[in-house]
Amino acid sequence: MLPRMQRLIVTLDGPAGSGKSTVARRLAARLGLDFLDTGAMYRGLTAQALARGIDVQKEGPLLVELVRHVEVRFDWAADPPRLLVDGKDLTDRLRDRDVTDAVSAVSAEPAVRDVLVESQRRIGREHPGLVTEGRDQGSVVFPDAELKFYLDASSQVRAKRRAGQLRELGKPFDLESIRQSIVARDHADSTRKFGPLICPDDADKIDTSPMTLDEVVEYIEAKVRPHLDAPAEESPR
Ligand code: DC
Repeated sequence: MLPRMQRLIVTLDGPAGSGKSTVARRLAARLGLDFLDTGAMYRGLTAQALARGIDVQKEGPLLVELVRHVEVRFDWAADPPRLLVDGKDLTDRLRDRDVTDAVSAVSAEPAVRDVLVESQRRIGREHPGLVTEGRDQGSVVFPDAELKFYLDASSQVRAKRRAGQLRELGKPFDLESIRQSIVARDHADSTRKFGPLICPDDADKIDTSPMTLDEVVEYIEAKVRPHLDAPAEESPR
């Protein structure tokens, strides 16, 4: 948290596997800010829908009913925060293959987005020093954020990064099928009608393909730190 109540929202948007989550988490830790993984909220809701036997491709009305009645929230006492759905910790379910395959359909549902966007804005009010990552954080959720970044990388590089994460978790993977699923998700995320993946005009767009994630963190940190150190009235833009 910021030592004072000055607001500083940093948004990181970009496609699947662009390194946003890792970069946002490391950046927040280095700057002493809170970290919001909005994809985890869509994934948590998706895991809950699957647990209830909802066909997310065909049963939109049941999804809408679900999002209006479940509580999707983070346990901020944990580091990193755990994702709870109706009080149940679903964090370890979030990156499972069935959830990953179903989440685009869930996140394309406008009523789902309305509810989760509102929750994210509430989190922004409760955590005024925040690094938040997703697809629509700079464009829709926090259009007035002080600093906006958009991370991109080739699908090949992104697939390799995702494979590295799965390897660390000891989960099996096939590189080409990860790449294909990334390309399919890019398409679904960019072409959906509500909250599509776009680079906001006022975002700093970074092609991370030739960079290590530490280099990306350092680049962004150098841009954000002056805003943390600046007096509240004259925060530089
Ligand atoms: O970043 P991720 O892979 O955990 O995101 C999971 C899915 O949720 C992805 O298909 C896009 C969607 N999503 C979204 O629509 N809006 C966000 N702010 C975050 C994620």
